[in-house]
Amino acid sequence: MKISFLMLMVLSLFLFPNGIHKSLASRPSVVSIGSILRLNSTTGGVSDVAIHAAVDDINSDPTVLNGTTLRVDTRDTNCDDGFLGMVQALQFMETDVIAIIGPQCSPIAHIISYVANELQVPLMSFASDATLSSIQFPYFMRTMPSDLYQMAAVAAVIDYYQWKIVTAIYVDDDYGRNGIAALDDELTARRCKISYKAGFRSNAKKSELLNLLVTVSNMESRVIILHTGSEPGLKLLSIANSLNMMGNGFVWIATDWLSAYLDANSSVPAETINGMQGVLTVRPHTLKSKMKSNLVSRWSSLSKKYNHSDLRISAYGFYVYDSVWTVARALDAFFDDGGRISFTNDSRHFKGFPLQVDLSTAILTLSENGELQRIHDKWLKTGDCSTDNTEFVDSNQLRLESFMGLFLICGAACVLALLIYFGIMLRQYLRHEQPGSAISVDAGSSTSKRSLRKFISFVDDRQPPPKKRRTMSLSRSSMPTTPMSNRPGTDIDIES
Ligand SMILES: *[C@@H]1O[C@H](CO)[C@@H](O)[C@H](O)[C@H]1NC(C)=O
Ligand SMILES: *[C@@H]1O[C@H](CO)[C@@H](O)[C@H](O)[C@H]1NC(C)=O
Ligand SMILES: *[C@@H]1O[C@H](CO)[C@@H](O)[C@H](O)[C@H]1NC(C)=O
Ligand SMILES: *[C@@H]1O[C@H](CO)[C@@H](O)[C@H](O)[C@H]1NC(C)=O
Ligand SMILES: *[C@@H]1O[C@H](CO)[C@@H](O)[C@H](O)[C@H]1NC(C)=O
Repeated sequence: MKISFLMLMVLSLFLFPNGIHKSLASRPSVVSIGSILRLNSTTGGVSDVAIHAAVDDINSDPTVLNGTTLRVDTRDTNCDDGFLGMVQALQFMETDVIAIIGPQCSPIAHIISYVANELQVPLMSFASDATLSSIQFPYFMRTMPSDLYQMAAVAAVIDYYQWKIVTAIYVDDDYGRNGIAALDDELTARRCKISYKAGFRSNAKKSELLNLLVTVSNMESRVIILHTGSEPGLKLLSIANSLNMMGNGFVWIATDWLSAYLDANSSVPAETINGMQGVLTVRPHTLKSKMKSNLVSRWSSLSKKYNHSDLRISAYGFYVYDSVWTVARALDAFFDDGGRISFTNDSRHFKGFPLQVDLSTAILTLSENGELQRIHDKWLKTGDCSTDNTEFVDSNQLRLESFMGLFLICGAACVLALLIYFGIMLRQYLRHEQPGSAISVDAGSSTSKRSLRKFISFVDDRQPPPKKRRTMSLSRSSMPTTPMSNRPGTDIDIES
């Protein structure tokens, strides 16, 4: 038994020599990572510069990934459109990227996390949404502190000042809702509570925000927590300022979106800043290090180089920079262990489930010939009905004319049924009137008119109301002599 086991071991050494001696030759010369960002947002821009800076640093550092060049492939995404964002991310995962930095937006991160598990592409996400966890999604790694931490900080401030009851204003998506849920937990643990939660759509109009703020200003609590993205957040603060909600008697606490925005955007006008005097915001703390000060000192030249010269570094920049380094170090350790990267077109990605291959191929073809955008515009676009209607009229759509055939058949059947009915009536009328026809001959010119009237009254009499008939039959049974006298035939039968 032992000997056969040993032989098996020896055999396996001969058969699989790769596991024994690591060879540097097996390292690929180029490895790609991907990033999914919203490039025209402040956070997206800062992240883009930070990723490129990290890739440059890694490639020029001989102690990490020696002999391998790291490349980055960036995709721009639109957070407001979950469907397109998802499809873009899926397509991206089908390419030869070994890890993805992002996606930047929580809603897309939620959708993608499920697929990342199947495709085995690690997501180094900076979605701070606390409900995304690597316990549920092994291929999801958060590289930002979860919202639980900043909500704990906010709750601690509220508790310190003994405010007890607060109002929460949040953007009504995964990020906003889950953040406020985390705040609720933290406040409950400190015996405080949110008395009113006001959610709004991320693309809410100014009038909606105005109504929301008017409602909020009538609430019991004047302590307002603002958890949203930077665009609607700034809009809301400026409206609040015009409603005099920034003065005495109000407390505003903005979550880290405000600090990230003010840190990064170098061109915020002074009036915007003045309009939000007194607002508290939180910022994640990063420790001092040589790497950090090095990055900060090079930032202005880096941001120029990568076309975001108007952006300064924010906390997001540090975390994203670290994410790329994490990927590089992990890859290095993986290669040191003799690991190899291989891409196959189907078997690795989709564990023997053929439908998924077809599905993703179908999505790819659709998006390649622009069909996907068209389908999306047609079915999922939300906008003014009036403008969309003109585009929507399509030769394949059902319109009133489409039912023309149906109407024709229906009409013809009705007319036919009416004709048959009149035919039957006419026959019965003629048969009924035959004996009396001789009497009515004298009428002259008005004969046809009279006979028409007669015919109509005949048709009218055809079906006397059922009540009448019942009384007739009753009278018939109570007075048997009348029918007997009418029918001489039966009389004879009875007598015989
Ligand atoms: C970014 O681009 C989208 C459309 O691609 C636009 O709707 C949005 O307003 C832009 N955001 C900024 C901050 O420029
Ligand atoms: C920075 O702030 C200015 C003024 O508010 C704004 O116009 C610009 O779009 C902002 N930049 C980014 C990248 O959001
Ligand atoms: C990197 O690789 C080169 C040859 O490919 C080798 O000469 C050099 O010593 C290596 N550097 C480190 C730090 O391992
Ligand atoms: C920056 O913009 C210029 C001009 O628009 C372009 O040629 C260049 O490739 C861009 N650089 C990067 C890193 O995107
Ligand atoms: C996967 O498919 C693409 C295009 O269909 C092809 O270029 C590539 O070589 C294939 N890769 C493998 C590993 O088969």
